[in-house]
Amino acid sequence: MKYSRIAGTGSYLPKKVVTNEELAQKVDTTDEWIVSRTGISSRHVSSPEETSSYMGYHAGLHALEAAGLSANDLDMIIVATTTPDKGLPNTACLLQERLGITNIPAFDITVACAGFVYALSVADQYIRGGMMKTILVVGVDVLTAVTNWDDRSTCVLFGDGAGAIILQADDKPGILSTHLHADGRQKDSLYIPTWLPGQRKEEELSYIHMDGREVFRFAVKALGQVVEEALAANHMSQTDIDWFIPHQANLRIITALAEKLKLSLDKVVITVDRHANTSAASVPLALDEAVRDGRIQRGQTLLLEAIGGGFVWGAALIIY
Ligand code: ACO
Repeated sequence: MKYSRIAGTGSYLPKKVVTNEELAQKVDTTDEWIVSRTGISSRHVSSPEETSSYMGYHAGLHALEAAGLSANDLDMIIVATTTPDKGLPNTACLLQERLGITNIPAFDITVACAGFVYALSVADQYIRGGMMKTILVVGVDVLTAVTNWDDRSTCVLFGDGAGAIILQADDKPGILSTHLHADGRQKDSLYIPTWLPGQRKEEELSYIHMDGREVFRFAVKALGQVVEEALAANHMSQTDIDWFIPHQANLRIITALAEKLKLSLDKVVITVDRHANTSAASVPLALDEAVRDGRIQRGQTLLLEAIGGGFVWGAALIIY
């Protein structure tokens, strides 16, 4: 078995939906401003029970069901999250316990909004290397728990959710390639101060801090480059892409990239209008939506990309 392929997808969205109009009653903003600058109309917001392990568990169950597998078939669990339930144990362990299984490796990776693409890449290497056959890969975040609801420049941007895939060994591709990058010099453009109470400066709150214009500028440039890198590595061009599944941070970033790629928006999966930016969940949530509504079909070529605080970014080319 030379390759890994997506055997099933799943997702979970919190029950509570918050519209732009509701936000406009709390901070000085309008539906018109939010829609025109971001493309976002509403977002799902977690209850205290809807933690990362809870949402990841439900997304994982749906992915297992879609793959026709049970939790006992898993060899490994990887959870991409920046908002773990606890400092320890890691979220993948808590998810494993919810699944009622033991004795398989379970770990988190913290790569902000790029977490799912990074986790997919790690899982792909384990399967290609022959060490594992079936891996649950989850992207999940509850960014609304680290959102300052009094800051109109950030609180309109984020939502919560989870997306999951089952990656399985196969003779045919599968994941064609993954491409990962990071640039720690940009650490001040998008960050959450330390979680550790003993290390926190008195005046610092553990909320997302963001230089929106810098994030926007860097995202369009870096994502454009990594997408070209992925296509070149596979001797493909834009015309080979059936579906572009970008990180869902801002419709303007997505549109700028689609234009750069000369891709019609009909070929782009867009959920940012209803989900806002769900960080590590954004790409697998969009993937699952388009698989379940029948847009994405077996054998089609998918291009995934994401970028997050670090900056960290990456892309993946996949035959579904
Ligand atoms: N409602 C009304 N006005 C607002 C709001 C709001 N919610 N937020 C900011 N403004 C005001 C600002 O105060 C500013 O007013 P001023 O000119 O009087 O100072 C004005 O709108 C313009 O602000 P800008 O920050 O210049 O607005 P911009 O057009 O850059 O849009 C935005 C801001 C939407 C954040 C944009 O920069 C962006 O999308 N950047 C990318 C950031 C992103 O996607 N972050 C998500 C996390 S990172 C990731 O996932 C990659």
